Amino acid sequence: MRNGKGRPILSELSQLPFSQACENNKKPILTELKSVFSSSTQVLEIGSGTGQHCVYFAKHLPRLIWQASDQSDYLAQLNSRIHIEGPENLLAAIELDVTKAWPSAQIATNIDGLFSANTLHIMSESMVVAFFEGLGQYLNLHANVAIYGPFNYQGQFSSDSNAQFDMWLKQNNPQSGIRDIEWITSLASDQGLSLQADTSMPANNRLLHFSRS
Ligand SMILES: C[S@@+](CC[C@H](N)C(=O)[O-])C[C@H]1O[C@@H](n2cnc3c(N)ncnc32)[C@H](O)[C@@H]1O
Repeated sequence: MRNGKGRPILSELSQLPFSQACENNKKPILTELKSVFSSSTQVLEIGSGTGQHCVYFAKHLPRLIWQASDQSDYLAQLNSRIHIEGPENLLAAIELDVTKAWPSAQIATNIDGLFSANTLHIMSESMVVAFFEGLGQYLNLHANVAIYGPFNYQGQFSSDSNAQFDMWLKQNNPQSGIRDIEWITSLASDQGLSLQADTSMPANNRLLHFSRS
């Protein structure tokens, strides 16, 4: 823990945004990341959200330098969690909006891992395109990419709950929606990333592993 000021850490943590889904999915995701990032050294996470994932993964993958990031509105609370309970290999989160210029000087120049969970169905289609174009320029030649979330196959939902979730997403934002794996794979391919594995995860989610090797 990084809070050396004797403040009531648990009470501070309880004030921060919390996702029960992150608590439920972090262990199965970690199992996959151990293999996906077995040869990686520096991982950039896009859309770190509450920070529960980056704290947990950095703690359990201490060999990796983990760079959290998110849009500006999320940064203060994300960095509060990182400050309170993040391990040393978890760097303070930086601002990264995929539709804007990606930060360059702030982050390590040799990013060979990318993780993003539950982001592509929140982003609009043009944001998803920007996400992959950014990756293409950012990642090094041997990068491994892990993308977690719900996906469709050829426009078909893989469960009734995903279909309901998609309706809920679109009620909140018509630009959001569960993406087709075929489209995601094609965007990745344009950046030299090929699909290595499409792994079934709990609650009708998938873990997509792409690599440039
Ligand atoms: C549903 S939350 C997921 C958060 C976390 N990864 C998780 O699994 O709980 C969606 C995340 O996508 C991020 N996001 C949405 N649009 C973005 C953009 N244009 N650039 C970067 N991140 C974006 C949000 O800020 C938010 O952190």
